[in-house]
Amino acid sequence: MQKWRLDFRIWHWIHAVVILGLLGTVFLRKTFLSWRTNSELLVQKLAEINIDITMEQGKMLAKAIRAPMWEWHILLGYALTALVIWRIVLFFTESGKQNYQNLEKETLHKKIVKYGYLVIYATILFMTISGLTMHFHEVLGLTKELVHDIKDIHELVFNVILVFVPLHIVGVIVADARDEKGIISGMIHGERKEK
Ligand code: HEM
Ligand code: HEM
Repeated sequence: MQKWRLDFRIWHWIHAVVILGLLGTVFLRKTFLSWRTNSELLVQKLAEINIDITMEQGKMLAKAIRAPMWEWHILLGYALTALVIWRIVLFFTESGKQNYQNLEKETLHKKIVKYGYLVIYATILFMTISGLTMHFHEVLGLTKELVHDIKDIHELVFNVILVFVPLHIVGVIVADARDEKGIISGMIHGERKEK
């Protein structure tokens, strides 16, 4: 019997790419495409060619430059929503639930890793719900204040993902090098189960 059925492996890798992509959009928003930095740059550089604009206009331009990039946050957000639904379906398969069965027999380390995955699933579910709620706030008739509060929480909870991703990648590399040889390629070719 395969440890990871093909559909689970495909799910894992698409999911990994989508999460990394979402983190990429956040990285760009906070760095190269930050309206704070770019609005100042625009005001300054336009002044050099004798075009005077206000900070407010600079901000508007900087946000317009950022907008097409941020569309990817929403597109990847939709993809993530579909992946969350797919993962729920996969919980009904052997590959999807094996990590969460007979946990009492596991070492403390494995227990932490596996509960960690469940925390991440809950976090990702929250990110999709809060993200979609913000995106569809008009249809939902939400007040600006509420949307703002949701954004603060969405942004705060994002840190859980930010910590998990490098920890997970370093974790599986270390495991692969030490006592769980082939754990990474197992997520590629499926791996045979001992039993
Ligand atoms: C790009 C490098 C990555 C590698 C090499 C990798 C590798 C692996 C491996 C080997 C496993 C099985 C480990 C085990 O059974 O404990 C696994 C599971 C998992 N990975 Fe990744 N992963 C990567 C990226 C990601 C990313 C970006 C996410 C996004 C959150 C992610 C989420 C998960 C989750 C949730 C599981 C648990 C699967 C389950 O429910 O049983 N992985 N990964
Ligand atoms: C793992 C998944 C996600 C992560 C890590 C993430 C991260 C973030 C972060 C850090 C921000 C705040 C950006 C800032 O103000 O500097 C943000 C804003 C936002 N996110 Fe997400 N997000 C995720 C999923 C989603 C999903 C699924 C959607 C929905 C389609 C979504 C929609 C939004 C929206 C609408 C904003 C507000 C942007 C604005 O105020 O213009 N996000 N996200």
